[in-house]
Amino acid sequence: MARLIDAADPAALEERTRRGFAARFGRDARIVASAPGRANLIGEHTDYNDGFVLPFAIARRTAVAAAPRADRVVEVAGAFAPGTLRLSLDAPIGRGEPRWGDYVRGVIDECLVLPQGALDPGGFDAWIESDVPAGAGLSSSAALEVAIAAAIEMLARRTLDPLAKAALCRRAEHRFAGVPCGIMDQMASVLARENELLLIDCRSLEFVHVELPASAGVEIVVVDSELPHDLGEGEFAKRVEQCSAAATKLGLASLRDARQGDLERLACDEDSILYARARHVVDENRRVHEAVAAIRTNDWSRLGALLDESHASLRDLYQVSRPEMDALVEDLRCAGALGARMTGGGFGGCAVALFERGATRSLAPPRWPKNTGSRSSPA
Ligand code: GLA
Repeated sequence: MARLIDAADPAALEERTRRGFAARFGRDARIVASAPGRANLIGEHTDYNDGFVLPFAIARRTAVAAAPRADRVVEVAGAFAPGTLRLSLDAPIGRGEPRWGDYVRGVIDECLVLPQGALDPGGFDAWIESDVPAGAGLSSSAALEVAIAAAIEMLARRTLDPLAKAALCRRAEHRFAGVPCGIMDQMASVLARENELLLIDCRSLEFVHVELPASAGVEIVVVDSELPHDLGEGEFAKRVEQCSAAATKLGLASLRDARQGDLERLACDEDSILYARARHVVDENRRVHEAVAAIRTNDWSRLGALLDESHASLRDLYQVSRPEMDALVEDLRCAGALGARMTGGGFGGCAVALFERGATRSLAPPRWPKNTGSRSSPA
C-alpha cells in the first residue's frame, strides 16, 4: 500500500527531541540542530556522472539535541532506531553496531581529520529523532549526517562552508556506509530551501535555487511505495561501475561529456548494457535543463512529459524501477498527475508527481491497492 509523504511540524520535532534528550540524559540539551530529507524532481543517476540534478528538501527533518560532557566520550541514542553509540574521540573510529551509528561515526571522524584543522566538538551526549522515513529513498542517511555535522558545528562553535559540509558528509557515507553515492543528497540536505528546487552542476558544484512558489498553480507530491528496498545497494554500485566503464571505453572523464556520436560507438551487442546506461545519463542531463526551462516559463505539461520520459528511461534503459513502482507511477497519472516518476536510487522507495494545485484531493491511499510490499530494511 502506498502512502503520501505529508509535511511534519519542525517545531514539534525539536520539542520532542529536547524532551527525549532530557529523559535519557537527565539534563537539558544545550543545542538542537536539524536537516531535511530530500526528493529529486529530475536528474536521476546523473550526480556520480558529473551531471545535473534538480532535488528539493521535503518538509520532514531529522533533529539532534546535544550537550557537552566533561570527558572525550560521545554517546548517541534516539527514538528513531534501537541501540546506543558510544565512542572515544581519542581512539581510532571504525564501523560497528548499531549500524545507523556508522553515519554518526563517519561524520565525527571526517570532522576530526579536516585538512583545514580538526572540527573537534569535545565529548558530548546526543539524542536523535526523525520525521524522515528510513529506507524510503528520501535520504534519511544524508539528513542524519548533515544534522550531526550541524550539531558538531554548534558544539565546536565553528561553521563550515556549506559545500565543505556536504562533501564531508558524502565522504562519511562512502567510507563508513560503503555506498558510492554522488553529492546530490548531502548538497540538497545542506542547501535546499522550502518551495524551491536546487539545480546542481555536480562537476563544478555550482548551484542555483529555482523557485516553485504556490502562485505557480502546481505542486509536487511525494508518495512512498512502501516496497522492500533491499536490492538497492549492490545494484547501485553496479550502475556506478557500468557508467565508469562506459566513460572509459569512450575515452571520457565521465559520461557528462558524452555526445550522441559517442553513444553510437557503444551500441554494438557486447556493449549494449553500457549503451543503455550511457543513453539514460545523456538524455537525463538534457531533461534536467529542459525541466528548468519549463519551470521558468510555467510550461507544466512539458514538465510533466519530462517526468514521464525520465521514468521510462529509468525503467527501460537504467533498469532501476520495479513493476510495482511502474504501477504506482501509472496510478498517479490516472489520479490526474501531469507527470510522475520514481525518485532516488530506485528498487522501491518513492515516486514524485506533478499535480495542479488542489488536484491532489483524490490521493487517498486506497487508490493504490496494487502495491502490497512492506519494507523490511532499516536504512
Ligand atoms: C542515491 C544516491 C545519490 C544519487 C541517487 C540517484 O540517492 O545517494 O547520490 O545517485 O541515488 O540519482
